[in-house]
Amino acid sequence: MIKSAHHKQDDAADGATPPPAGEYIAPVPRISVQAFCESQKTFDIVKTATQDRRLGKAHATVKMGGVAAAIETYSSMPTPNVIILESTGREILDGLDELASVCDPGTRVVVIGSEQDEVPYRELVRRGVNDYILGPIEILDIVRAICSLFSASEAVVTGRIIAVIGAKGGVGASTVAHNVAWTIARDLALDSVVIDLDMAFGTASLDYNQDPLQNIANAVFQPERPDTALMERLLAKCSEHLSLLAAPATLDRVYDFGAEAFDAIFDTMRMTTPCIVLDVPHQWSAWTRRTLISADDILIVAEPDLANLRNTKNLMTVLKAARPNDHPPLYCINQVGMHKRPEIDVKSFAKAIESAPVAAIPFDSKVFGTAANNGQMIVELSKNHRASHIFQQIARQLTGRLEPKKPRSLLSPVLDKLRGKPRRSTANGM
Ligand SMILES: Nc1ncnc2c1ncn2[C@@H]1O[C@H](COP(=O)(O)OP(=O)(O)OP(=O)(O)O)[C@@H](O)[C@H]1O
Ligand SMILES: [Mg+2]
Repeated sequence: MIKSAHHKQDDAADGATPPPAGEYIAPVPRISVQAFCESQKTFDIVKTATQDRRLGKAHATVKMGGVAAAIETYSSMPTPNVIILESTGREILDGLDELASVCDPGTRVVVIGSEQDEVPYRELVRRGVNDYILGPIEILDIVRAICSLFSASEAVVTGRIIAVIGAKGGVGASTVAHNVAWTIARDLALDSVVIDLDMAFGTASLDYNQDPLQNIANAVFQPERPDTALMERLLAKCSEHLSLLAAPATLDRVYDFGAEAFDAIFDTMRMTTPCIVLDVPHQWSAWTRRTLISADDILIVAEPDLANLRNTKNLMTVLKAARPNDHPPLYCINQVGMHKRPEIDVKSFAKAIESAPVAAIPFDSKVFGTAANNGQMIVELSKNHRASHIFQQIARQLTGRLEPKKPRSLLSPVLDKLRGKPRRSTANGM
């Protein structure tokens, strides 16, 4: 929705005026912002704005090229949370129409215009533009525009939770969770946190080669509700976009939890992190069931044997019934092709489950064993390993970014119909 266009006074031309007294601009959560400017002056102001403390959590990139560069970029890349476009006139309207065909739903668009533009607000609103800033702009106009898109009431739920659980113990659920999270953070550049919920035996810190001083016990056993500042302190940084909330992995106490023990932790985490991957231990208790049911997406990891088949089926049945308005849990088969082991083939497994797995990951004791012992991801060890590609594919599927997007022509729905293809779904767009 369009807010008021701001008109500048001449004495504010250096762009460094502080906000009016009493105005509070709330900091943004971990979002991605990409700007496409037309003039060097705007480029410099936007660039400086992205270094403001309130945008400290945002991942921002500022480029030249305006709407044309944006269209080119997003025809092959996922769109960020916010796109900022500088307009040079009415051409912006055609550009916005074209951008819409490559833009994820949920991406917010801010347009910077100048008084000479004469672009009618109504036309911008019709194209879904969220804010329009009339130049000459100041640094704070940009900060304010971005932050107000994520003001407190809207920011309550920004993060998406992906829960990963094994159909049996030891099937590789944690390995899959950690590798997929790594891929989401690296390849899709989405700020992600892995939460290791296997309190006593969790391996996430080993897998990411981390030795964090703090862990989830510091939040779950404290009587006060955790806030974002506490959660930030408990995280260990694994890569540019990936952090870890480790498990204590010690046995000095037992870990019996009520159903809601983790609610506040997840809610707090969601306020600052777009993607949260939960490594859920293989157990069926009040809190694991609640965690699975309330997740945005579920991935079950199974080995191709009878017990895994039965457990996957039971998990599917229970979770589908409890989440009637969601798409069913996804599952993958892991450790396929172990030497001399009799296995249920993927086709029969899929038939019994009544849906196809998102992937069948080959058994490779050398590569997986080395990665685990070195505290590395499979892709770090072997970029072209089949499992590396599979983790990428699972990451795309879980985040709704199935294939690189192509701009769609107006005829696409008709052509799809003629070819008998279903229309591309955007239900899972993140
Ligand atoms: N595709 C694979 N090929 C070979 N080994 C694998 C594969 N996937 C996982 N492993 C190995 O299997 C072992 C168990 O993996 P992991 O700890 O991820 O399983 P889990 O299901 O999380 O177990 P737990 O029930 O203890 O949480 C690890 O040593 C891991 O390296
Ligand atoms: Mg595990």
